Amino acid sequence: MTNILGIIGYPIGHTFSPLMHNTAIKHLGLDYIYLPFEVKKENMALAIGGLKGLGINGINVTIPHKESVISYLDNLDDNARFIGAVNTIKLEDGRLKGYNTDGLGFLKSLKIDAQENAKGKNIIILGAGGAARAIAIQMALEEANSIIIANRTGERGEELAVHINAKCKMQNVKCKVKAISLRDNSLVEYFKKADIIINTTSVGMIDSNTPLFPYNYISDRHLVCDIVYKPIETKLLKEASVRGARFLNGLGMLIYQGSLSFKIWTGHEMPVEIVKKVLMEELTKT
Ligand code: ATR
Repeated sequence: MTNILGIIGYPIGHTFSPLMHNTAIKHLGLDYIYLPFEVKKENMALAIGGLKGLGINGINVTIPHKESVISYLDNLDDNARFIGAVNTIKLEDGRLKGYNTDGLGFLKSLKIDAQENAKGKNIIILGAGGAARAIAIQMALEEANSIIIANRTGERGEELAVHINAKCKMQNVKCKVKAISLRDNSLVEYFKKADIIINTTSVGMIDSNTPLFPYNYISDRHLVCDIVYKPIETKLLKEASVRGARFLNGLGMLIYQGSLSFKIWTGHEMPVEIVKKVLMEELTKT
């Protein structure tokens, strides 16, 4: 019987995960299929219950369900519990277990694709959702010097900063974490000291989105990262390039988080180079 994998989110039309996983499945000759499922907030309980009912082996979770999904799961692995968000679920012996591969996926892309380390760096994270949580905690564990969480909704950023500071204390990690509002005038001062800027919001997926912050804050001292991968070069990355900054698109994070999830579900290594080639072809189609 064919094993079913998939992704739930809302909206879901933008996702490249089916192409990525189905390419890997086909290349390895596995009896799996990966499908997208558009699930609204109000249908989450039914959808997650349905995984058990139908015996669906594994699922990715994306915007906006990464945090809320936790309440429907039977258990979490240490990383997901630590982060407080889930992007991967596996049905194991009839029980749903949550994992998080986002932070490690981003870290791998930072190291391999941008040849950069977080240790000792001053980092600004734009956004405070599930992806921000995973990335911020991973950067703290890598001993970043400081992390500024800049979010549209100030209180959500504050909550995340409190969460990360508590986790750092537990692990004896020395990293200063602070939240500010995206509209705060002092944001420009943090940019002057920052080494790495990471956009974890969905702004950039649509061309007409207004900028998260004034682009003239960016300078050639920055590495600017966007976890958005479609378009492959977002407005933010174009502005970074114009200002002499280095930049990193979201394709590497997509592939590395995906390869970690793929391993959890199937036990196989994803053929990363083949997958990357197929995704690049799709992304650069005119
Ligand atoms: P995910 O779990 O994938 O990270 P999420 O939890 O919905 O998704 O989080 C999305 C993030 O993008 C949030 O930080 C959100 O800001 P708010 O907390 O203020 O909602 C941010 N975001 C989304 N659209 C935005 C916009 N137009 N401008 C600024 N921030 C935006």
